[in-house]
Amino acid sequence: MPAVATPRWRRVYQDLRQAIEGGGLHAGARLPSSRVHAAALGVSRNTVLTALAQLAAEGYVEGRVGAGTFVTSPVGAEAAGSAADHAAAADATAGVVAGPATPPPTAAPLATFGARALAARPWSPPTESQLPFDFRYGTATSDLGLTGRWRRLLRRTPAPIDYGDAAGYPPLRRALAGYLERRRGVRTVPEDVIVTSGSQQALDLLARVVLDPGASALVEDPVYQGARGVLAAYGATLVGMPVDGDGARVPARPPRGVRLAYVTPSHQFPTGAVMSLARRRALLSTAARHGFWVIEDDYDAEFRYDVRPIPALQGLDRSGRVAYVGTFSKVLFPALRLGYLVAPPALKAPLLAAKWLADRHTPTLEQATMAEFIDSGDFERHLDRGRRRHALRRAALVRALERHLAEDAVASGTASGVHALVRHPGVPRSRVRSLLDAARERGVGLYDSAPYYLRRPPAAAEILVGYGALEPEAIDEGVRRWAAALRCCLR
Ligand SMILES: Cc1ncc(COP(=O)(O)O)c(C=O)c1O
Repeated sequence: MPAVATPRWRRVYQDLRQAIEGGGLHAGARLPSSRVHAAALGVSRNTVLTALAQLAAEGYVEGRVGAGTFVTSPVGAEAAGSAADHAAAADATAGVVAGPATPPPTAAPLATFGARALAARPWSPPTESQLPFDFRYGTATSDLGLTGRWRRLLRRTPAPIDYGDAAGYPPLRRALAGYLERRRGVRTVPEDVIVTSGSQQALDLLARVVLDPGASALVEDPVYQGARGVLAAYGATLVGMPVDGDGARVPARPPRGVRLAYVTPSHQFPTGAVMSLARRRALLSTAARHGFWVIEDDYDAEFRYDVRPIPALQGLDRSGRVAYVGTFSKVLFPALRLGYLVAPPALKAPLLAAKWLADRHTPTLEQATMAEFIDSGDFERHLDRGRRRHALRRAALVRALERHLAEDAVASGTASGVHALVRHPGVPRSRVRSLLDAARERGVGLYDSAPYYLRRPPAAAEILVGYGALEPEAIDEGVRRWAAALRCCLR
């Protein structure tokens, strides 16, 4: 983009303002007449008059009839800030784009939320993997020419250009309600569906409307960092629910004042456990007894390989306590930033208010395209194809683990999703770093599970394995190299 030149009047204005703020022109000083000033600078008189008018509007100078223009009074930091704002506003009105404003060096304290959000460190900049066998979780898993189809659909889809409903584009809400009922056993009507910018926004809105700082939130331990971060940033005291092969176990006596429980019952993140029916019932009855909300994050339930997907926890809820959250990030692609939330009736109004305040609504064009995609049947056909492709990857992983790592590895969570957890019983946690380094030297990206634990991570090394973006042959070769790295580490 060509740089936009600063208008002349603005340069004159800036020089004068600087001189006043810096004390070069002090209060009461009389400025040269506009004619003299213009001649000295080699600019037109109008240029100087515009600059003076701006300075006068901001209170730096004042004109006295018949006497000239005078500097008013020293301008403090506060006035200088507002002056800059006014100037920017003036530029905007004049259609002038000002150069990048240099933020003043400031030691201004952060709000509590800002400090907590920073401390949560939920995010690291996405990087392109340089490793040929990268088992990183969370990267795009979509294939089958989906983005091409999506683009074509996007071009064809007519979408309104005016503001939309905070709850989302009505045809998408209808399509989602039907899909969720059909495929996930969610009990809902379109009016209860809220379209969000990814499931992350759904978690954020829920946290905002039900949490006060200091309130307790029950979370799985280990826990998804996106949920942990948002709850911590809003000041929740996190109480871990231990996870075993039956999923998370809700405490019989939850902490006083607990407001919510966050769970991933279909495929616990990161262990992959499926929450048993007994645990689901225990969670729902405890929530009803103690009056807390349950957030069900159903992020990847469509990919279940040996049996049909387990219906959502929300479908079992009879007391309107479950907020169901889903995303298109896994089944389509994460760059879409489309998610959804099925609101319990009592939370609908505050959630909609919070959504409006956050961003009015999620972009309509993508919503309209998604509605078309679902209504045409393409979406569910895509899901079925995706499941078959991921099943091949999953099978390749299970085979490769058996073939190359055998009893050196115990895998969990391979029944569904696009990740698994692999434990190395013979490798103490203290050796994880060298295992990861040795793998990296062989072109393999492995990732420690420790950051997901609230309390102490397990004593043995544990690796979070994302396999959705690798082809079966690459999975086999990657695990072969991983085994070589492990042998080197065990020596
Ligand atoms: C447990 C869990 N929930 C949700 C998501 C997706 O989040 P979003 O919809 O914001 O992309 C992920 C993605 O990695 C996840 O692992």
